[in-house]
Parts: sequence; C-alpha cells; structure tokens
Amino acid sequence: MRRLFGTRVPFALAGPGSQPDSKRAGRRAPRLRGIAHFCETMIEIPAAAVLARNIDIVQDVGSLRARLAAWRRTGEAIGLIPTMGALHAGHISLLRKAKRYARRAVVSIFVNPAQFAPSEDFAAYPRSLEKDMALIEAAQGDLVFAPCVEEMFAEGFATAINVAGPAAAGLEDRFRPTHFAGVALIVAKLFNQCRPDFAIFGEKDFQQLKVVERMARDLDFELQILSAPTVRETDGLALSSRNIYLAAEERARAPLLYAALSISVSAIKEGVPISRALELGRAMLNEAGFAVDYFEARHAESLKPIALQGDGPLRLLAAARLGRTRLIDNLAV
Ligand code: PAJ
Repeated sequence: MRRLFGTRVPFALAGPGSQPDSKRAGRRAPRLRGIAHFCETMIEIPAAAVLARNIDIVQDVGSLRARLAAWRRTGEAIGLIPTMGALHAGHISLLRKAKRYARRAVVSIFVNPAQFAPSEDFAAYPRSLEKDMALIEAAQGDLVFAPCVEEMFAEGFATAINVAGPAAAGLEDRFRPTHFAGVALIVAKLFNQCRPDFAIFGEKDFQQLKVVERMARDLDFELQILSAPTVRETDGLALSSRNIYLAAEERARAPLLYAALSISVSAIKEGVPISRALELGRAMLNEAGFAVDYFEARHAESLKPIALQGDGPLRLLAAARLGRTRLIDNLAV
C-alpha cells in the first residue's frame, strides 16, 4: 500500500520486485516497474484489472513518446483528450469524436495539483482508474497516459504560464484566480509531450476552451483545438465528475441551473433585453437556494461583456453553489 495524497491505495506497482503483480503484468511489467523509482506517490493501478485489458497505459513521458513516434512513423493521425479521470459520458463523447477524426486517440488522466487552490478539492477529487480504463477501452481509445505528479512536476520545477484575455474575463477567474494558469501549464505540457494532430475539449468548461484556444494560438502549438458539445443527464444537468458530491436533495435541484440558462436564452431570443433576461435566470436560482457566483452574457469568442444581442455571438455562462458543490454550465444564445 502507498499513500496517494491521503488516499490509501493497494498498489500493483508499489516497487521493483512485487512478484505476483509483475508476473501477471507479463511483458509490460519492466516498463511500469521502472516508474516506481522516481514516483514517490504512485497512481492507483489495479494491475490485474488494468493490465489484462486491450488498452495500454503509460506513466512516463519517455514511454509515451516512444508509442506515439511509432504511430507517427506509419502516418497515423493522433488525437489527444486531456482529462482528470473519473470519466463519464461527457469525457467519452470527446474520445468518440477523436476516433472519428484520427486513427489513434490518447486519453491523459492527471489530477493536476496546479489548477486547484489550497482550499479546493484536490485530495478528495474522485479517482477511478479501473473504471476509466474500462470506459476508454469500450470507446476504442488507444492509449492512456497517466503520469504521477513527480513526472509532471520534476523537482525544482519553476516555470509558469501567464494567461490573460479569456482567462481574465471575470468569470471563473474571479472565483478561482490561479486556476487557468494551472490549466494552461498542464495543457501546454501535454501538448509538448504528445504533439498530437489535435486535442479535444468540452464546451462544458467554456472559458477553459477559450483559454486553451488562445494559448495554442499565442504559443504556436502545431495542433488543432476541437470542441464538443456538453453531454447532459436527461433532466438537463451537465455531466461532471463533481456531481457525485451532490446530496440526493441537491441533485434534485441541480438541473435548475440548466433550466435557468435555458429560460434566459429563450427570453433573449424573444427580444427581452439581456440585463432583464439575466435577472430572470439569477432570480430563479436564488429562489431555489443556489448561491450564484455569476450568471452572465458574454461574447462567445472573446468572453467580453455584451449589452446588445446584435453585438456578436452570445454565450450565457453561469456558476452556482448548491451546498458544498459548485456547478458550472453555459449555453449558446
Ligand atoms: P476534466 O474536468 O476531467 O474534463 C476533461 C474534458 O472533458 C474537458 O475538456 C471538459 O470540458 C470535458 N467535459 C467535462 N464534462 C463534460 C460534459 N458533460 N460534456 C462534454 N465534455 C465534458 O477539464 C479538465 O479535466 C482539466 O482542466 C484539464 C483540461 C484536463 C487540464 O487539467
């Protein structure tokens, strides 16, 4: 057993010479065992379940690059889907889209400490690698890259990316001021490590999508950024790894966030002034006991405030707390 940020995990790759697991792991064992030398905190890899599957997992950049180079040599296009794991149908929709555009799809799973503030849920963030692997395999993913923290942030790591523009739009950044710098840093590293032909991000995290698009353009990453629509429960709640935090009674109210956005969008389309339409949505959420962080109309590209519908493509973006769970969502007008 090793400790992973407070979680006790039974560990297949606990170190060189863990006999039964290395036997079961067959020819892949040496590569994986090597990781134990430089990863203080191992990621949960349930060996029998994961290694028996028809999908490979690599945990270090060297192995990742070797695998991708082989695909590139034979001219196979590669799509990257960056995630933090705890996968659901939203993540899998990105993988399915990647497989429509490329022969090979790599899913990265890394709970990135750099994008969590000290007060946030980094340690408690759900981790379910075994289930994730099964979902990725079912959706024909080709490779999982699941580095440990030390692999991504070597000792002495001292580099940051300063993001502005959409990252300073006064939406998520107002409540999570260090979040997008952490996202940009890890996404930039993943782009360099994988050098994919494209990477796919969900509209669910709309501001993040715009931040990544901006960064990719500004730093001349040679890849395309694709996006995919938000996958929702049948009652409208956007799928999120954090929905499991909702108590049953909160889960019942949670779809109101989408309902409020939908009502405001309809009102704007019917000619109600934007400010009035936003008030309608906010009031609905306040009455239902949400603590609204923001409920805003923005230019869909720049994320700048917009007062009149004719001033550009519009997107409504909202974040609201229900108990200890913070929900975000957005909708095009
Ligand atoms: P994570 O929250 O795991 O999300 C990974 C990707 O899945 C993101 O592009 C996100 O927008 C997308 N996604 C999440 N829920 C979705 C839904 N209901 N429908 C469609 N897509 C959905 O976002 C992150 O991880 C991280 O910030 C990351 C980009 C991996 C950097 O650490």
